Amino acid sequence: MLREHFDVRVWPHDRPPTREEIIRDASGCDALVTLLTEKVDGDLLAALPGVRIVANVAVGFDNFDVPAATKAGVVMTNTPGVLDETTADMAFALLMATARRLIEGDKLMRSGTWGGWGIMQLLGHDVHHATLGIVGFGRIGRAVARRASGFSMTVLYADEFPATPEVERELNVRRVSMDELLAASDFVTLHVPLMQATHHLINSGSLKKMKRSAHLINTSRGPVVEERALYEALRDGVIAGAGLDVYEFEPKVSPELAALPNVVLLPHISSASHATRGKMSEVAAGNVIAFFAGEKPPTALNPEVLTAHAKV
Ligand code: DGY
Repeated sequence: MLREHFDVRVWPHDRPPTREEIIRDASGCDALVTLLTEKVDGDLLAALPGVRIVANVAVGFDNFDVPAATKAGVVMTNTPGVLDETTADMAFALLMATARRLIEGDKLMRSGTWGGWGIMQLLGHDVHHATLGIVGFGRIGRAVARRASGFSMTVLYADEFPATPEVERELNVRRVSMDELLAASDFVTLHVPLMQATHHLINSGSLKKMKRSAHLINTSRGPVVEERALYEALRDGVIAGAGLDVYEFEPKVSPELAALPNVVLLPHISSASHATRGKMSEVAAGNVIAFFAGEKPPTALNPEVLTAHAKV
């Protein structure tokens, strides 16, 4: 899509570029298309003064300093709406995998040591008719709620903003306080963006409020959970298990956490289906194309920059 309109320089390696490499390779460019691994702040934008739009191929944009971009007159965009169902699928897959000990079972079979059926073997927790607590009831949280109804789960949610009564009725969900959600849920799944208010939202205090039989699922952003506290909670039986797609110090995962059997670990792949990654790329490219066609990029994070330009 981009090559039809522009000269395009593509970062050719599998690893993310360093800041120096971005500055070197994007020097003279009018636009940047970035992944969540690239931190885009005022310093980077100052080093690339030609850049007028930065399009993230991700819905999360905690790698962006949006106020700094607005100040610099640079438009930033993300990719909302196209990855909700795919991410919800993975949240549910992680929930099932941790509850029913899928990975441990798979490891046992591959080890060649399975001695046959055992009545006490790899006992897990039921998902059907359990209580699911959804933290953050935006598009992805709601998509998870829809899946939960097929498992006859009781669904609670915590969110600063209540859903409409129609949505609550349709999805059969009830809004509760965070404390009530933590205390009542068999599964807690996180769907909040990373920002100051959600950094370490799950810490040793909140983990202690959960049931000892509960599982924590995180497909949002790693730093929403204090990883050391989660490790200790899993080690000490404060909660029963966790399913994680994201990490506090990505791409690092603490070796202690990785050594525990009661946690399922994925490499940040919740949106990684062929179709969805394609759609995310199209949304990002579409934003850049719209901008240079003089239109409003459909998913601009700071559209006020465009108005400011129009006024000039
Ligand atoms: C996002 O879009 O923010 C995901 O974390 C990557 O798909």
